[in-house]
Amino acid sequence: MLNEKRLTGTIGAEIDGADLSGPITDNLAAALRDALSRHHVIFVRGQHITLEQQKALTASFGTILQVPYVEPLEGEPDVIRVFKAADEPGGVFGGGWHTDFSFIERPPAGSVLNATTTPPHGGDTIWASQSEAWNALPDPLKSLLIGRDAIHVGKPYGVKWSPPVKERAGASMNLVRGDPGADEERGHPAVLRHPVTGRLMLFLNPTYVSRLDGMTEEESRPVLDAVQAHATRPEFCCRFRWTPGTVAIWDNLATQHYAVNDYSGHDRLMYRTTFAGPTPRELAANRTDMEAEPAIA
Ligand code: SIN
Repeated sequence: MLNEKRLTGTIGAEIDGADLSGPITDNLAAALRDALSRHHVIFVRGQHITLEQQKALTASFGTILQVPYVEPLEGEPDVIRVFKAADEPGGVFGGGWHTDFSFIERPPAGSVLNATTTPPHGGDTIWASQSEAWNALPDPLKSLLIGRDAIHVGKPYGVKWSPPVKERAGASMNLVRGDPGADEERGHPAVLRHPVTGRLMLFLNPTYVSRLDGMTEEESRPVLDAVQAHATRPEFCCRFRWTPGTVAIWDNLATQHYAVNDYSGHDRLMYRTTFAGPTPRELAANRTDMEAEPAIA
């Protein structure tokens, strides 16, 4: 029997009573999936699982997905090592609001992050619920976004938008840079309908979205900036303090997240796996979905 402790009124829960090092039984998998769909991100402390156990857990949510532009752990093509060394200058992998690999055709439905070394202070991660953000979005912005595509590009990995060398994050992580293929634009619906709960959710993020379809970058910028400021309001966020052995699982299409870069002088090491689900196109929300939504008080 799992015990859920909500972290905030809108997003995130710590789960007690789950042993992720044993077999992931059908009952356990169903309970975790149910908790994930309600809380968007769930945390299980004190697990200290192996990579084999992490992969088994990940596969219980969906087919394990390999993502481009980040070299996987040697001998482990399904696993990314998320590491920042104590003496490493510059940014941190994931250190800006984003949805993991939103620019690919089938972005991860979810991600699993398994913390092994955590700094004595700092290194938290923040998640923002994009269904809560949608609910509270002013009607004119809802009308502008519903049924419209946003254009995503692999900005950090390409040529056109790639950050200057000294600002680049993830020096310990062997990111593939300068690939013109990463500049390719891909349209995804700006508003999705959650496959389990049916709730509508924003699907935009500043790391990968360059503009709205039918608008130039200049025309899109004020709209995207306003929506982003709204989408990450503290009321829609939870901030998680990691301890070694914690496993986090998040709904990648229903959230944005942000790795806080404030632990200089300390190592931080985590292992990330991702699982597949429907494409954003398959989850596109339309005006009828919007009008059918119950009013939120
Ligand atoms: C990520 O963006 O997947 C990494 C998050 C983190 O390191 O906290």
